Amino acid sequence: MTQLSFMGRIFMLAMLTLIPTVGMWAQQEKWTTIKNGIEWTDTEGYVVQAHGGNFLQVGKRWYLIGEDRARSWNPDVNLYSTEDFVTWKFEGKIIQNRVTHEQLGVSRMIERPKLMYNAQTRKFVVWCHWEARNYSASEAAVFESDSVAGPYKCVWTGRPLGTKSRDCNVFVDNDGKAYFISTTDENTNLGLFELSDDYREPVSKTVLCEGQRREAPAIVHIGDTYYMISSACTGWAPNQAKIATSHNIKTGWSELENIGDNIAFDTQASSILTIKGTEGTVYVYVGDRWMDPDLPQSKIIMLPITFEDGKMQLRYYDSWQIDFNRGVFRLKDEK
Ligand code: DGJ
Repeated sequence: MTQLSFMGRIFMLAMLTLIPTVGMWAQQEKWTTIKNGIEWTDTEGYVVQAHGGNFLQVGKRWYLIGEDRARSWNPDVNLYSTEDFVTWKFEGKIIQNRVTHEQLGVSRMIERPKLMYNAQTRKFVVWCHWEARNYSASEAAVFESDSVAGPYKCVWTGRPLGTKSRDCNVFVDNDGKAYFISTTDENTNLGLFELSDDYREPVSKTVLCEGQRREAPAIVHIGDTYYMISSACTGWAPNQAKIATSHNIKTGWSELENIGDNIAFDTQASSILTIKGTEGTVYVYVGDRWMDPDLPQSKIIMLPITFEDGKMQLRYYDSWQIDFNRGVFRLKDEK
C-alpha cells in the first residue's frame, strides 16, 4: 500500500463518517404550529392589527402590512415582522391618519393596503383602496418609501386609468412585473392593471371576471399556471370563495369554480403566500375572518393549499405545522 492510497483511505473513512452527519443536519426538522381562530399578539403583548393586508419576504423575515381596525373605522396602516408567523414584532404605523396625508382620516380612508418591493428603484411601494364615505370615491392610492418601515409618502391617488376601483390586491410575477387588481365599475368586474416598471402607475388594463361581481382577489403563480381566488361582494359577511386559473395572466381564464366550503371557512382572501424551502414550497391561503364578533377582533386565518388531481384545494385546520427551512407542511401530529 502506497503512502498516497493510505491517505486516500483515511480521507474516504472521514467522508463516510461525515456524510450521514451532514445529511442529518440538512434534514433537521423544525416544525412551527400555526393556530387558527385565535388573536395574534405582538412581542409587546398587543393584539396584532393587520387586516386585509399582505406579506413581503425580505431575506428570512416576513413583513405583514394591514389595516389597524382597533378603532373599527378609518384604519391606520400597521407593519409587523416575523420569521415564524408566531412571534410578531410591531414595526410601526407606516401610514397614519392625518399624518401621512391630510385627507386620510378626514375625507378618505384606506382599505386593503398591499406592500411590494421594487428591485429597480429600491423602493417599497404600497397600493391600497382609497375611499370616501359610502364607497363613493372608488379610488386607489400609492405610497412609497426607501425603507420597509417607512416613512411612506403618498405618490398618487385616483381612479386607475379612470376606472372606479374598490377592493384590491397586488401581484408581483416571477419576472418582477407587478399588477394591481381591483373590483371595478361599481363592483361589477375585476380590473387587472399592469404597473409601470417603478410600480407607481398603471399602464394597461384588462377586464377579468366580467359582470361576475367578485372582490378580494388573490393571485399566485405556480408552475405554468396562475390561480386566482376571489369572493362575492357581501360586505363583511363571508361567502363562497371561487377559483379561476389561466396560463396567461391577461387572457384565457377559466370559469369560476367553488373552492373551500360555502363560506370560505368564514374568511375572505387577503393574500396567498409562497414559502420556499430547501425541500419544497408551501402555498398558504391567508384570509380575514371579519367581524369575529366585531371588526377589531377580526382574525387572520392561514390554511395550507393542497393539490388533488391537479386542482387547488382548500381545507380548514384549527392548527397545522410548517417547516419554513425545508418548505414542507404537515397536519398536526401527522407522521
Ligand atoms: C368587503 C371588502 O372585501 C372589505 O375590504 C370591505 O370593503 C368590506 N367589504 C366593507 O363592507
